[in-house]
Amino acid sequence: MIVRAHAKLNLSLDVLGKAANGYHDMRMVMQSVDFGDDIAIELTDGDFHLDPGQPYLPSDERNLAMKAARLFLEGSGLGARMTVTKRSPVGAGMAGGSSDAAAVLRALNELTGRQKSAAQLCQMAEKLGSDVPFCVQGGTALVEGRGEILTELPALPDCAIVIAKPSFSISTPALFARIDQRKSRMHPDTTGILAALEAGELSGVARRLFNVFEDVLPRNYGDIPLIKSELLSFGALGAAMTGTGSAVFGLFTDEDAARRAYNSLRPRFAESYLTRPSPRLEV
Ligand code: C5P
Repeated sequence: MIVRAHAKLNLSLDVLGKAANGYHDMRMVMQSVDFGDDIAIELTDGDFHLDPGQPYLPSDERNLAMKAARLFLEGSGLGARMTVTKRSPVGAGMAGGSSDAAAVLRALNELTGRQKSAAQLCQMAEKLGSDVPFCVQGGTALVEGRGEILTELPALPDCAIVIAKPSFSISTPALFARIDQRKSRMHPDTTGILAALEAGELSGVARRLFNVFEDVLPRNYGDIPLIKSELLSFGALGAAMTGTGSAVFGLFTDEDAARRAYNSLRPRFAESYLTRPSPRLEV
């Protein structure tokens, strides 16, 4: 079976506080996109094997795809052979590794006769990482708690999406530490985004894109403001960094304008993409 691991974007990202377990209490609107890794997967008599698709990625338990396969098949006597075609950028805030893990859970559920419900898959996903539960079904969702409380939202109206990732990545724990040090900070208008999604208004969503992590980065940090202003100058309705970065994206109604923005960014940012929103998957 070949399964697609859709990458995700954050239409909003808010950190509400720090929980007793050390994790942060989040409130985010997430959106899956129409590109990502492909994973070819087959069951075995008990052996586990992973080709991670890139020499710099681990093929053992440090890879979430392997962790997911072992967790799903625990106690069954079965194993899995997996080959990843890697397309999602690494260290981008686009859930590259998390979406691989979620895709493995979905695929193994299919291959073993669909014995698990979406809720059961999400419980497993939560053990693998905070972004994995959303990635099981994707689409458009409000994601709260550590990442495990999901509320399906009306789909983001179809649009063109341009993404560009600067060559550096940002450390997730370091970003959370910066948030913790801040006494006051801005928050996204999550209520406004939810209302705009309900009304099917792309522009209402796009002008409210906001990520609190972007707000705690040093001023003019590593091309992020530059990519944003370039996306806006080409006609994006809104632009923001996704997750803990460093990828930045813009939403466009005009496909030609999006292509012009992509063509302009691509020579400087090799990891640039032109894509669309992708719908929620049935499990
Ligand atoms: O859950 P995951 O392994 O993806 O989290 C990676 C790191 O991000 C955690 O060790 C923690 O430092 C931070 N994190 C957090 N609060 C969350 C999600 C992640 O503090 N809700």
